[in-house]
Amino acid sequence: MNFETISVIGLGYIGLPTAAVFASRKKKVIGVDVNQHAVDTINKGEIHIVEPELDIVVHAAVTEGYLRATTKPEPADAFLVAVPTPFIHDATGGTHKADLSYIKSASESLASVLKKGDLVVLESTSPVGATEQMAQWLAQARPDLTFPQTHGEASDIRIAHCPERVLPGHVVRELVENDRVIGGMTPKCSEAAKAVYKIFVQGECVITNARTAEMAKLTENSSRDVSIAFANELSVICAKLDINVWELIALANRHPRVNILQPGAGVGGHCIAVDPWFIVDSCPEEARLIRTAREVNDGKPLWVLEQVRAKLEAYHQGHPGATRADITVACLGIAFKPDIDDLRESPALGIAEAVAELGCQVQVVEPNIEALPKRLQGGNVALVSFDEALTQADVICVLVKHKPFIEQADAVRQKASVVDAVGLL
Ligand SMILES: NC(=O)c1ccc[n+]([C@@H]2O[C@H](COP(=O)([O-])OP(=O)(O)OC[C@H]3O[C@@H](n4cnc5c(N)ncnc54)[C@H](O)[C@@H]3O)[C@@H](O)[C@H]2O)c1
Repeated sequence: MNFETISVIGLGYIGLPTAAVFASRKKKVIGVDVNQHAVDTINKGEIHIVEPELDIVVHAAVTEGYLRATTKPEPADAFLVAVPTPFIHDATGGTHKADLSYIKSASESLASVLKKGDLVVLESTSPVGATEQMAQWLAQARPDLTFPQTHGEASDIRIAHCPERVLPGHVVRELVENDRVIGGMTPKCSEAAKAVYKIFVQGECVITNARTAEMAKLTENSSRDVSIAFANELSVICAKLDINVWELIALANRHPRVNILQPGAGVGGHCIAVDPWFIVDSCPEEARLIRTAREVNDGKPLWVLEQVRAKLEAYHQGHPGATRADITVACLGIAFKPDIDDLRESPALGIAEAVAELGCQVQVVEPNIEALPKRLQGGNVALVSFDEALTQADVICVLVKHKPFIEQADAVRQKASVVDAVGLL
């Protein structure tokens, strides 16, 4: 198996680092993206996303001539598809379906340049069966070629799934060091995919079938979601029973085989809050715990908001005649987890927005961003310093446990009215 030219379709947070790392191993890499701005930026040796060290790797890959970006697929020996797989909200709110339209259009466009002997790997996080579906789309577009679903090991084209599990902020290192799960549609497909990943992966490449590989990625994120939901549910129960949940968890974790996670304002980001729905959608009757965990975690921001409302009522009782607009609420943190600038699907951001809708003056303290996102711009929301919020706010709402907040926790402890969703105090 000789993979001299590798094409990566979708040059975002996953595809671009992958393309650049292949190029750093002196493979000819053709990056494909429908976003002209991304293509132009990469061809200048620059990057359009935020990821430490990536700028250096991309710059070297482009200037040395190993990486080139384009909007249209070109012939290659292996194609890695890393396009988005968001979910579509069901209008009734009952379930959330995976949106495979990006995979469909990527398959249809790369099909035109496929040739006998090529390998196609789906990297996007996908519901079980998506790799087989991609193979169908490719086969429909290229009836002159044979595919594993009809010709097994004798097929012209090899197809596999290889999910990605890198941690944003550490992608360049984790791409190389992490183990990979490789699920081919046949054993030869797996072997071909393994040969490609072994070009740069130092971790183990473990072989399985495509459906198990798809489910492995969804399982990893569902496992995290269920564990976080347990902690979040405990926090709500403890508030009702007048127990300090942080103390409780610390005590329970003294058991040698218990390791409860920490509660928070909810679950955000584009992985843990999304991927479990793909399992629920596939098996709605069976995935009871996974669905409930999603609902518990999605319900947590509403519960935090109720705590804020209670503080506002208490303020009104102490200050008869005050209006909502007279009350200043500080929201400490709006990122989806500590010490990052990522606001995608952030429960803290949603809470800050909801508090603003209650009519209060909202002061956001978010040390990792320089400007408020559009959703919070204008009106009664301002991005302020920690000190400003501490001196001016009537109610403090701790939503993310950023390091600078931990360092200044004593100052927060002095305030009379605090909602602590993350155990800062
Ligand atoms: N970002 C992460 O931390 C992470 C981790 C693990 C898995 N994943 C999964 O990897 C996949 C990609 O995620 P991402 O974060 O890189 O997304 P992203 O949005 O950063 O990048 C996707 C890129 O694909 C491009 N694209 C869309 N349709 C295309 C098409 N038809 N042809 C070519 N390009 C197309 C977009 O323009 C975009 O640049 C998703 O399934 C995601 O769930 C992401």
